[in-house]
Amino acid sequence: MSPFLLTRTLPEDATDAALRADVLQGLTRTPKTLPPKWFYDARGSALFDEITTLPEYYPTRAEREILQTRAAEIAAVTDARTLIELGSGSSEKTRHLIDALPSLHTYVPVDVSESALTGAANTLLASRPALDVHALIADFTRGLALPGTPGPRLVAFLGGTIGNLLPAERAAFLTSVRALLSPGDALLLGTDLVKDESVLVSAYDDGAGVTAAFNKNVLTVINRELGADFDPDAFSHVAVWDREHEWIEMRLRSRATQTVKIPALDLAVDFERHEEMRTEVSAKFREDGVRAELSAADLKLTHWWTDERGRFALSLSVAG
Ligand code: SAH
Ligand code: TRP
Repeated sequence: MSPFLLTRTLPEDATDAALRADVLQGLTRTPKTLPPKWFYDARGSALFDEITTLPEYYPTRAEREILQTRAAEIAAVTDARTLIELGSGSSEKTRHLIDALPSLHTYVPVDVSESALTGAANTLLASRPALDVHALIADFTRGLALPGTPGPRLVAFLGGTIGNLLPAERAAFLTSVRALLSPGDALLLGTDLVKDESVLVSAYDDGAGVTAAFNKNVLTVINRELGADFDPDAFSHVAVWDREHEWIEMRLRSRATQTVKIPALDLAVDFERHEEMRTEVSAKFREDGVRAELSAADLKLTHWWTDERGRFALSLSVAG
C-alpha cells in the first residue's frame, strides 16, 4: 500500500486565532454574521454528509449524475496525472473521476476538516492501494501551497462550494486557482444553477431538520472553542432566496431577547427578539455568469455539462 500523507498547513493555533478574529468581527457588526468554514468540525462534516442524502437536497445527486455521464470525457480531455480537489469532504462523488482517469498517479484532497480527510483517504486506499494520496489540511481561501506532483494537473472544486463564497471572495479565489495552473492543466468546477425558488428553499430547509442542525452546529463549535454559552435551541434556522443576488441565505434567528457570553473574546453579545444573523450564502449560477467570472480570472471555459434536468453544471476551464 502506498503511504497516505496528511499535511497540515493550518496550524491549530492559527485556526484558533482565525476563529476568534472571525467571530469577534462578525458578532460586533450590524447585521451580525458568522463565517461559514467553521461549520465543518467532525459533527458538521457528518451532518453535511447526511444532507447530501436528503430527498430535498438535489445538488449532490445532480452533480453525481454529470460525473457518471462525463467522467470518461473529462479523463480524455485532461489526461490528468494529479487530481487536486478543494473542499473534498468525503470524496464520495470524486470516485467516478478517479476511477475514470487511467493515468492518475496522485490525489491531493484539500479540506479544513481533518476528520473528513482521514475518512476519505482510508475509504479510497482500501480499494485503490496504489494511488498516492497526499491530503492537505488547509484553507483554500488563504493561498495554497501544493506539493510538487506530476502534471497534467486537474483541480476539481465540486459540490457548488464556490457559491458559499461572496462575489469578491470568488474573484480572489479563482485568481489564486488560476495561478496554480500550468499549460495543459485544467479546472473542473461544480456550480448549482438558478431555478424555481421553492425547490431551492426546500434544499436548504429540509423536512427532517438536518440542515437546521447543521446551521446551528456553528454555535456548538463557538461554545466549545471559545467557551461561549450559545443555546442552540434559542435560535431557529432560516433559509431565504435573495433574488437580487441570486443566492440562498442561511440565517439563525434569535427566538428571544438574549445575551450570549463569549469569555475567550471577553465579549457579551446582545440579540434582540427575532434578530437574524447570516451564517452562509449559497449562490446559484447561470452559464454566462460562470463564463464571465472565469474569464475575469484569466480562465477560459471549454466545456459546460449539466444533468438531464438542468439543475446543476460542471464546467471545465483552462488558463486563458
Ligand atoms: N466536495 C464535497 C463536500 C462539499 S461541502 C461534496 O461535493 O459533497 C464543503 C466542503 O468544503 C467541506 O468538506 C468543508 O470542510 C470544506 N471547506 C469549507 N470551507 C473551506 C475552506 N475555506 N478551506 C478548505 N476547505 C473548506
Ligand atoms: N456547499 C453546500 C451548498 O451550498 C453547503 C451547504 C449545504 C450548506 N447545505 C447547507 C451550508 C446548509 C450551510 C447551511 O449547497
